[in-house]
Amino acid sequence: MSRFTGRVAIVTGAAGGIGLAACARFASEEALVVAVDLPSADLDAAVRAATEHGSAALAVGADVTSSDEVAGYVAAARDAFGRVDVLFNNAGIEGTLASTVDYPEDMWDRVIAVNLRGVWLGIKHTAPAIIASGGGAIVNTASVAGLQGSRGLSAYVASKHAVSGLTKSAGLELAPLGVRVNAVCPAPIETRMMRSLEASMRPDDADEARKTIAERLPMQRYGEPEEVAALVAFLASDDASYINAALYPIDGGSTAGR
Ligand SMILES: NC(=O)c1ccc[n+]([C@@H]2O[C@H](COP(=O)([O-])OP(=O)(O)OC[C@H]3O[C@@H](n4cnc5c(N)ncnc54)[C@H](O)[C@@H]3O)[C@@H](O)[C@H]2O)c1
Repeated sequence: MSRFTGRVAIVTGAAGGIGLAACARFASEEALVVAVDLPSADLDAAVRAATEHGSAALAVGADVTSSDEVAGYVAAARDAFGRVDVLFNNAGIEGTLASTVDYPEDMWDRVIAVNLRGVWLGIKHTAPAIIASGGGAIVNTASVAGLQGSRGLSAYVASKHAVSGLTKSAGLELAPLGVRVNAVCPAPIETRMMRSLEASMRPDDADEARKTIAERLPMQRYGEPEEVAALVAFLASDDASYINAALYPIDGGSTAGR
């Protein structure tokens, strides 16, 4: 399948597990990939994943909480490839594990800044470029935490619920202009983020935490980043041409009930 031939896809959080898989997936379908992550992050793997598929890739260091830096990654994409068709608005942080009452204020602000402001700024600066290119799609990474609560993760849950709402409003506004906006809502996926949460839950035995979480899932395993990337590519492609302002769980059925 080559649904993105000649199209330009920006991926934020491209040095992380899901972002890296998305870079590889877009490139495997002949997209030109713009891999964005913090200036301190190592984007070599993302660029390699794209070029191994014979596609061109550009690495851009940017903090998604900075309006100037978000405008900068859009400008870099246009300078390098002349257009923008897709944004995978995916950078995010888990914050810390603490009760709502005890949650550290600085961490609360950081989680909201990265997970919500970063996604909003991505839409704000990228949508005009996509419209100028004749239309396209934005896929935000929410979470099952954007659909239901989770003890100890109130900042993360609040930020992801906000991404769900933002996806709906932006989708309503931008669809008439030719930009579809949707969100993916993953359950636990095999990336650094889950390793961090497992270690916070059971500092003495993170592997046991992982086992317990996996056993509670209907499919009794975490998802793979490539499984999320496949859904993202579908939503970003013309195969999803009538899908807009929608939230797509990719959770092995975990939000269907117990
Ligand atoms: N792994 C899971 O279980 C899971 C489940 C649901 C949703 N998600 C969401 O998926 C997305 C990707 O997470 P992941 O699992 O690949 O984790 P990850 O930690 O491997 O990747 C996240 C990436 O975002 C980058 N990032 C963080 N802050 C940034 C900033 N200010 N500017 C630019 N980049 C920044 C990090 O450097 C990292 O490379 C996140 O939004 C996360 O909340 C993950």
